[in-house]
Amino acid sequence: MLFKILLLSFLVLSCTSHGNAGVTSTFVRSEWPSVDIPLDNEVFDVPKGYNAPQQVHITQGDYDGKAVIVSWVTVDEPGSNKVRYGLSEEKLDLTAEGTVHNYTFYNYKSGYIHQCLIEGLQYGTKYYYEIGDGDSSRSFWFQTPLPIDPDAPQKFGIIGDLGQTYNSLSTLEHCKQTGTETILFVGDLSYADRYQYHDVGVRWDSWGRFVEPSTAYQPWIWSAGNHEIEYFPYMGEVIPFRNFLQRYPTPYLASKSSSPLWYSVRRASAHIIVLSSYSPFVKYTPQWEWLNEEFKKVDREKTPWLIVLMHAPIYNSNDAHFMEGESMRVVFESWFCRYKVDIIFAGHVHAYERSYRISNIKYNVSNGPSYPVPDKSAPVYVTVGDGGNQEGLAQRFRDPQPDYSAFREASYGHSTLEIKNRTHAIYHWNRNDDGKRIPTDSFVLLNQYWGLNRRRRKLRKNHLHSALSDLPLSVVL
Ligand SMILES: *[C@@H]1O[C@H](CO)[C@@H](O)[C@H](O)[C@H]1NC(C)=O
Ligand SMILES: *[C@@H]1O[C@H](CO)[C@@H](O)[C@H](O)[C@H]1NC(C)=O
Ligand SMILES: *[C@@H]1O[C@H](CO)[C@@H](O)[C@H](O)[C@H]1NC(C)=O
Ligand SMILES: [Fe+2]
Repeated sequence: MLFKILLLSFLVLSCTSHGNAGVTSTFVRSEWPSVDIPLDNEVFDVPKGYNAPQQVHITQGDYDGKAVIVSWVTVDEPGSNKVRYGLSEEKLDLTAEGTVHNYTFYNYKSGYIHQCLIEGLQYGTKYYYEIGDGDSSRSFWFQTPLPIDPDAPQKFGIIGDLGQTYNSLSTLEHCKQTGTETILFVGDLSYADRYQYHDVGVRWDSWGRFVEPSTAYQPWIWSAGNHEIEYFPYMGEVIPFRNFLQRYPTPYLASKSSSPLWYSVRRASAHIIVLSSYSPFVKYTPQWEWLNEEFKKVDREKTPWLIVLMHAPIYNSNDAHFMEGESMRVVFESWFCRYKVDIIFAGHVHAYERSYRISNIKYNVSNGPSYPVPDKSAPVYVTVGDGGNQEGLAQRFRDPQPDYSAFREASYGHSTLEIKNRTHAIYHWNRNDDGKRIPTDSFVLLNQYWGLNRRRRKLRKNHLHSALSDLPLSVVL
């Protein structure tokens, strides 16, 4: 079975290098209505007990994976800011003290938002943690990543444009089945901005409870989308990203960023860079200066896998949001190629699409137009804005399918990226077919640094000769 998958993937990869025409999947799924789940549904249930913590979520708290930020909300009173944690459920012998704050948004008053940094964790370890007071306290657990190491395996889930509909719920459930360890979230969280006045805050709260079965147990690496901007002059709310920034902290200071909206983290064998499509990024802006420095810090000998997250895709052949990523492409694409980014995940377009390795970096205003061409140094671009929000699917792809587009389908779903070692990762896109999860698009991703033939041969010769000899997967080498 595995062999079959890999053989298939090999064929897909062969197509990549020969630049064959891509696939537009003809599959049309029967859709559940794109409406938000009513607030009285059990998926939004408030946990029982006076002042019980709700909307629990965790994210990485430092650069290298030895810290976690735990966030939660209490509604009756501020209550304790402490997280009690430890190596077994019975022995939560460590504590960390966090902070609490609240805010208003138009006439909505938030609950008490707690954020607590837990530092000095051991790598590759399961921790149990408890928050809240007395009878209303609640317990969860998380697993820390392996130490920074080029061959450390890990499994990412990639979700975008999630919202809070029945389709969103299906995405969350399927993602749970794929057994991910960390979620890379490519922006557009709650779609609360589709509501007005007081209800905006209410739907941020309901979303926090909706995703808690995942966010309380595995870190979500957040990036912001356009639905986080929430520029609402009619309500007097004009400061961008307010609800998002109040609720979803990121470890931006650890990567010397000046904004929670762009930052990077290293996890095991991956260096993950988060960009903000809706913050200034042209030359000399803080985001540009930061990324310029951050790319220089990437050490492929330690973290071979270089992954970039953003919201607006750079290559997208859907009518929806066509070319909205063009301004960022012009500014950053040459860096993506120079630093040999492995894969770039984006959302925004409510469909799935994967590109070949292509670039369009020749163009400048004096040499006239140019077109994307096959480029071995370029990343693979994946759009997974198909989490299932209330805006529905983006069903009109441009015709004919451009040469850069390898596979596209207008269905809901999520992706997984399973890093095996420094050379190989296995990628899947999983379609939500109503109740079922159908792995649809998959391939073996060879690392852009270690996957090169020359380096791989050297590696095999020097260190891994014996380890390799009895593995059946050499078909993709
Ligand atoms: C925050 O909570 C305090 C204490 O309950 C309350 O007095 C204050 O009005 C709240 N502030 C905001 C901005 O909602
Ligand atoms: C524009 O492109 C041409 C042709 O590739 C190149 O010779 C020239 O140096 C470029 N100009 C700038 C300012 O990059
Ligand atoms: C890396 O993993 C792939 C897929 O599991 C395997 O075929 C390959 O031999 C491994 N390479 C090394 C260097 O261990
Ligand atoms: Fe979007």
